[in-house]
Amino acid sequence: MSRVVSLYRSSVGKKSLMAVSGIILIGFVFGHMAGNLKAFEAVGESGVHPLDSYAQFLREVGYPLIPEYGLLWGVRLALLAAVGVHIVAAYQLWRQSRAARTRRYHKPDSQVFSYASRTMRWGGVIIVLFVIYHLLHFTTGDVHPDFEYGSVYQNLVIGFQSVPVALFYIVAVGALSLHLYHGIWSVFATLGVQNPRVERLRRPLAAGLSLVLFLGYVSVPIAVMIGVLD
Ligand code: HEM
Repeated sequence: MSRVVSLYRSSVGKKSLMAVSGIILIGFVFGHMAGNLKAFEAVGESGVHPLDSYAQFLREVGYPLIPEYGLLWGVRLALLAAVGVHIVAAYQLWRQSRAARTRRYHKPDSQVFSYASRTMRWGGVIIVLFVIYHLLHFTTGDVHPDFEYGSVYQNLVIGFQSVPVALFYIVAVGALSLHLYHGIWSVFATLGVQNPRVERLRRPLAAGLSLVLFLGYVSVPIAVMIGVLD
């Protein structure tokens, strides 16, 4: 037990927790992006939009083996735990490095390094604020002009017909993509990958994944703004 505690206290332990929770969150954002792309699917004979049937599927998947909403709540709790661990470990690492910087013999961080970590911190704050707004917008409907529970496609189109709202989503997804870019880039160091061939892949992999994420997400508000989805 004390080994686990001392690993957690070390910066390697905290960075590993950030990496594992970050990888869980990356899995979610890619899954959610793929789900959102169902907005582009045509309505079939049932007359129900594929995005609405997909959302319904997520609510009842596993039923009657597990209660309705069971898996959804399981995933929600796991995500909340991952976000919590990610933020607490980030805060503690920041405090540790700040304390180290004030010591006499510590070599100061390079300019590039501190620029990246500042971007990560502010990016993280923007993403948290965005997610709170987003849940009130498309999940509870509190800040939506005409929310109807279950009509996910319709809620989405009406939501993005407001240009400032659509632009806010695009900026937030941009912040998320930058965060992911730096995150994927640095996770290689945390996991101790030192193979030069993998090392060469580091930047293109980080850039490619964050670009796919950015384009996948922004395609939906842009399609509504230009009238492709209505
Ligand atoms: C343009 C980008 C996005 C669109 C169009 C979008 C769309 C949606 C919609 C329609 C819902 C409600 C689904 C339902 O009621 O079944 C939803 C829920 C959600 N979205 Fe997004 N989303 C976007 C970006 C994001 C991003 C970037 C994140 C995370 C960083 C995110 C996290 C969530 C979460 C956590 C939920 C709640 C899921 C639940 O617990 O039911 N979304 N999104």
